[in-house]
Amino acid sequence: MPAKPKFYLTTPIYYTNGLPHIGHTYTTVVADVIRRYKRMRGYEVVMTTGTDEHGVNVERAAKNAGIPESEFVAKMADAWRALWLELGISADEFVRTTDLQHVRTVQWLFKLCRENGYVYKGHYTGQYCIYDNAFVNDAKPGDNCPDCGRPTETLTEENYFFKLSAFQKPLLDFYKKNPDFIQPESRKNEILTFVEGGLKDLSITRTTIRWGIPVPGEEPHVFYVWFDALTAYLSAVGGPDYEKRGMWPADLHLVGKDIIRFHTVYWPAFLMAAMLPIPKQVWAHGWFLMDASKMSKSKGNVVLPRPIANMLGMDALRYFLLREVVFGQDGNFSYDALVTRYNSDLANGLGNLASRTAAMIEKNFGGIIPKTGKLQPQDETLARETQTAIGNVLDYFEKLNFARALESLWSVIATADKYLTTEKPWSLGDSELDLQRKATVLATTAELLRIVTVLAHPVLPDSTAKIWKLLGQPGSVSAVELDGLRWGQLAAGVPLGKPHTLFPRLEKSEAIERIESMANEELNPTAPPTAAPAVAPGATTGAAAAAAPAASEKIAIEDFAKVEMRVGQIKTAERIVGADKLLKLTVDIGTEIRQICAGIAQFYEPDSLIGRKVAVVTNLAPRKLRGVESNGMIVAASVGPEGRPVLAGFLEDVEVGARLK
Ligand code: MSP
Repeated sequence: MPAKPKFYLTTPIYYTNGLPHIGHTYTTVVADVIRRYKRMRGYEVVMTTGTDEHGVNVERAAKNAGIPESEFVAKMADAWRALWLELGISADEFVRTTDLQHVRTVQWLFKLCRENGYVYKGHYTGQYCIYDNAFVNDAKPGDNCPDCGRPTETLTEENYFFKLSAFQKPLLDFYKKNPDFIQPESRKNEILTFVEGGLKDLSITRTTIRWGIPVPGEEPHVFYVWFDALTAYLSAVGGPDYEKRGMWPADLHLVGKDIIRFHTVYWPAFLMAAMLPIPKQVWAHGWFLMDASKMSKSKGNVVLPRPIANMLGMDALRYFLLREVVFGQDGNFSYDALVTRYNSDLANGLGNLASRTAAMIEKNFGGIIPKTGKLQPQDETLARETQTAIGNVLDYFEKLNFARALESLWSVIATADKYLTTEKPWSLGDSELDLQRKATVLATTAELLRIVTVLAHPVLPDSTAKIWKLLGQPGSVSAVELDGLRWGQLAAGVPLGKPHTLFPRLEKSEAIERIESMANEELNPTAPPTAAPAVAPGATTGAAAAAAPAASEKIAIEDFAKVEMRVGQIKTAERIVGADKLLKLTVDIGTEIRQICAGIAQFYEPDSLIGRKVAVVTNLAPRKLRGVESNGMIVAASVGPEGRPVLAGFLEDVEVGARLK
């Protein structure tokens, strides 16, 4: 069998002085969708994401948190990693710029550039934006940073310089020879104009920063952030030994439009200087805006992904991000649009089609998928249209036009809804002829649903896996080869699987209120930092725990004394419909029985908890989660990269209600 073609794609590596918002989530979700899609098209795929952990901002954030930088970034990297897992994003490589392999790669790349004559020592004075970690070209003292609007600082220091000026012509030639390198087309002119305008040499080391990768033998020089950061793409797949892994050059770098210049000018120039292969494509997408401006913590307008995923499910968040704006363009984020889409496209659309199809097969054919009988023209039309949609959807995916891909797919769902309304299988009787017609209509609908499920899988991994099982189809939906997908492959005669409510319909204002209140809680936690490893009632588990350093200044003993923790004993435990991660518990805390929701459902069977003694934070303000009141918090350790909760307990027998101090 021939070896699979390879596909290597990357997201930017994210700064660790903050936690992910919906903008970062967007790029990473897109990368995950492409990863899943390419796998289903037969590629061997590696997707890399990671964290950009050096620089002045991290130095400052760690200082504020009162912990060493290395500890700070380790916690932040865990938090980012945990969130991606919660959102169904399983990157193959998670690169941290503090990894030894990365450090070696940066030093090696520098050595190659220097040996080839593209590095020299000099002095640089300029206006520097410490927030964006970049000198601001042509800025004068007193100017603000054009990107973030904050004041720049004048900086003079001894630097190593990279001879970017030597690469004007090679870059222009490269763009010409590789017309698809910069995508979308609309961004290409911006870069061409920039390069044609002349390139200045680039400072690639600093002496004013301590927290960075040292330039060997040249301390106190450390590498400047872009030389360090961009190299992460290469260190993730072998660094100096990249040839062994066989993944370099990258096939696709996904970036936001804010960092396209670094990826399409600096990065290829560094690689040319080192005589290393250059990536095939850089794709710059637009921003998710909030009230027409870019989200940022300093503006206080960030939208957090976790509350949305907790309320609507991770698939709904993924779907919305891809469906709402055309990849490449800017788009406005609104909770209203989010919940509207959830209700119309997922609850009433895909979810409803799946559940009504299954219910009718259950009722009429004892839950066994029937065989199609004699076809009528309308059945054949539906089959033809769906078959055509397969080609269109794959075409759109290939062009990274996710919004159109999903639009085409959802128009197939709408066609199925119309077909059922016209054919009315529920109004047919029990005569041989009627039964045959019913079988044909339901098998046709089930086949359409199977195809939609396969095509939607990269975007909706969780719910499509459930529909696949519901349809009783063999193997896993992720293993279906998209290139072999055709109408007429439904395994008939098989029993349906267990039905799930995939997307319960939500009352819009109530849903928005709950998302916003969870977001407020995450941004301004009521629990003090010391209680961070607890399983927050918002089911946030490890990520919430790891997020703690941002808020963790030293606290006084009086602050700790404000937290009332008691020994509790679990009396009952049950799952909450529509909330995969939450358990509803009743807990005896000595003076009363409390109802508490805990985000542990994926790791503890309800029955195994009855009678167990646990540590409970008892003086938290009550909150509603998925409409269920939660009055307290169960304490747990957060273990491993996925933040698996492990309940805190007691080795000796303790009295229920005893206070923890
Ligand atoms: N660390 C650098 C990238 C180094 S890559 C070698 C960096 N990090 S970042 O944390 O600021 O995140 C950058 C990326 O996050 C953006 O390029 C973009 O991909 C994404 N987004 C951040 N805010 C965004 C929006 N509001 N909307 C969409 N994406 C945005 O820059």
